[in-house]
Amino acid sequence: MKIGIDKIGFATSQFVLKLQDLAVARNIDPEKLSKGLLLKELSIAPLTEDIVTLGATASQSILTEADKQDIEMVILATESGIDQSKAGAVFIHGLLGIQPFARSFEIKEACYGATAALDYARLHVASHPNAKVLVIASDIAKYGIETSGEPTQGAGALAMLVTSNPRILSFNGDAVAQTRDIMDFWRPNYSTTPFVNGVYSTKQYLDTLKTTWAEYQKRFNRSLEEFSAVCFHLPYPKLALKGLQKLLTKELSEEKRSQLTYNFEQSIRYSQKVGNIYTGSLYLGLLSLLENQPQLVAGEKIALFSYGSGAVAEFFSMTLVEGFEKHLRTDRLQELDTRTPVRVAEYEDLFFAEAILDETGSAIFSNYDNQTYALTEIREHERVYHAVEDQA
Ligand code: CAA
Repeated sequence: MKIGIDKIGFATSQFVLKLQDLAVARNIDPEKLSKGLLLKELSIAPLTEDIVTLGATASQSILTEADKQDIEMVILATESGIDQSKAGAVFIHGLLGIQPFARSFEIKEACYGATAALDYARLHVASHPNAKVLVIASDIAKYGIETSGEPTQGAGALAMLVTSNPRILSFNGDAVAQTRDIMDFWRPNYSTTPFVNGVYSTKQYLDTLKTTWAEYQKRFNRSLEEFSAVCFHLPYPKLALKGLQKLLTKELSEEKRSQLTYNFEQSIRYSQKVGNIYTGSLYLGLLSLLENQPQLVAGEKIALFSYGSGAVAEFFSMTLVEGFEKHLRTDRLQELDTRTPVRVAEYEDLFFAEAILDETGSAIFSNYDNQTYALTEIREHERVYHAVEDQA
């Protein structure tokens, strides 16, 4: 039985910051960001948008009422959770109106979480072939003003419906994971922004790629010649490009090298305009590849490299299934251009705003008309979410 991704949805926040403007404000050469990091824009989320609203919006864009009756699990992968106890998946389950006898929970291992969630979904479907599992990767990446990571922030969510007989991609059952107990990027409970050993983190990313790929080759005796594309975790696309270059050895044919390079360029197009969305970044790269490379054909294999700081890495592959192109969109780049541009001062206010609670632990928010779902208030420490049309 084939198991895989039947539908993929994406949502990002309503505001966008041009990195050209950030470079000017920070007195950096704009080419350091456009060529040094390969980034153009960042999505900026206000207080009323969080991992729950973004995850619900991405999911709502793909789910039918029938899907909501068939979903048996909602797994939210995130490293920007909004509560230490209650899973964001439970809020999303409620907002979407998924049938009650479902299991909903949150999963975490930095940017690797969604890959673990997909594998758990695969295992569930393997033993319950009629089940559907909703896997959501939702994050808001905030490093702070004037930090080295500032140009690599972002906000967004991917929603993937995992089923038997999937209509987009099937898993090939060839995953190899690797765990290393390191401190390259982490966020203690008392901090709203992460601590980062930036250069060390990039070395770990590249070294776990090299060693996990070597182990994958050993176990499965496969060469890159078998793949049409490699998608990478995209903290910023330039690091993934370095990763690709490490894999493009001299033994590969010239034709394969140029195919993999061209397809890599298609896989970074969305991230270049959204920024880092942590655990969703790899799957945003996959979506970007599928929606911007019309030459891909059913049966072709795509390799994926997942990396989450701390660190867990995984190399695995998926195969495109017949008719996959009918379940994708071709207007997403234009849609990204409808986000509202913000100046640097507005970005600083919007992105780093904290809810100011009164003595009862309450705050009421406004200005969420452009959202599908919104955090509308905090009422005595309870987060209150609504579908925006219900509020009108
Ligand atoms: N024109 C063109 N290129 C220029 C330039 C200019 N004027 N000035 C500099 N550059 C180039 C540099 O040569 C460099 O390119 P190479 O890497 O090819 O040498 C690139 O721009 C970046 O410049 P720096 O090396 O000076 O680095 P930086 O100050 O921009 O910081 C970073 C880079 C440390 C990674 C920083 O962005 C950061 O801390 N990011 C957050 C951590 C991160 O993303 N780590 C990735 C691995 S961890 C992970 O993957 C998990 C996750 O999602 C966080």
